[in-house]
Amino acid sequence: MNLLDGKKLAKDIKAEIAEAVQQMTNDGQKAPHLAAVLIGEDPASQVYVRNKVRSCEQVGFQSTLVRRPADITQEEVLQIVDELNKNADIDGFIVQLPLPDHLDEEAITLAIDPRKDVDGFHPVNFGRMSQGMPAYLPATPSGILEMLRRYEITTEGKEVVVIGRSNIVGMPMSILLAQKAYPGNATVTICHSRTKDLAAHVKRADILVAAIGRADFVTADMVKEGVVVIDVGINRVDDPTAKRGYRLKGDVDFDGVSPKASYITPVPGGVGQLTVTSLLMNTLKAARKEIY
Ligand code: GUN
Repeated sequence: MNLLDGKKLAKDIKAEIAEAVQQMTNDGQKAPHLAAVLIGEDPASQVYVRNKVRSCEQVGFQSTLVRRPADITQEEVLQIVDELNKNADIDGFIVQLPLPDHLDEEAITLAIDPRKDVDGFHPVNFGRMSQGMPAYLPATPSGILEMLRRYEITTEGKEVVVIGRSNIVGMPMSILLAQKAYPGNATVTICHSRTKDLAAHVKRADILVAAIGRADFVTADMVKEGVVVIDVGINRVDDPTAKRGYRLKGDVDFDGVSPKASYITPVPGGVGQLTVTSLLMNTLKAARKEIY
C-alpha cells in the first residue's frame, strides 16, 4: 500500500506557486489578489476562510477579507459581489458557503463574474469544464486530478467508481475522469443514494472516489485487491479521548481497506490538503488570464 500524501503535495504546490509569484513580481507585475467574502459566524467557515487567507500570505498573494454580519440583506451581498466583479485589482474571489438561510445562494453564485469565479461554482465554468474548454475547476476535483498526475496513476481504460453526485465533487469528478485527457479516459460509474447494489459497483473499481459524507461507509469487503482509493470524506466522529472531543474520519474505513489498496489517501492529510492549493492555482491562472 502506498499513501497518497496530500500534505506533502500541498507543500510542494505552494512552493511552486510562491516561485511563480516571485517571478511575476520580479517581472514588474503585481502579485495575484484573492478576495473572500465571509458572512456570519459559522465556525467551520471561519476556519476555512482563515486558512485561505493564510495560504495566500504563504505564497505571496494579496488577499482581502470582506466580513459581514449574518443579518446582511440579499441586496447588500449582491452589491459586494458587483463591486468585486468591477474591481480591477481583484483577480478572483469567493463567497464562502454555506450562507445564512435568508440569503439566496444560487442567485449570489450566478451574480459572480465567471472570469473571477475561482471556486468554479458558476454554471458557466461548470459548462465550460463539461465541454473540455478552459475553465476554473472546483477545488476538490482539481486537487484529485493533481494528485493522480503527480503520483503518475494510470486512469486510461480504468474502471472508476465515484460515490456521490454533488455539484462540487461527485458530478464534476465523474465528468473530468471520463474526458479525453490525462488524468481521464476512464470508464466512470456514478453511484448515489438510489443506486441498487452499490457494493457490486464498488467491487469493480480500479479507482474509487468516495464523496458521500458518512464515516467508514466503504469497508474492506466492498473493494477489489489493488484498488486506488481517493477518500474525500471529512467526518467528525465523537472521541472523548481526543483533545477537541472528536476525530476526523474519511468515508472509507482506512484500517480495513488500506491493506487491499495499491494507493490510498489518509484522512486527515489527503485530498482535503489540496483544496486550498486548487484555489491558489485558480487565482494564479486568473492573474495570468489563462482561462479567459
Ligand atoms: N464551503 C465549503 N467549501 C467551500 C468552497 O470550496 N468554497 C466556498 N465558497 N465555500 C465553501
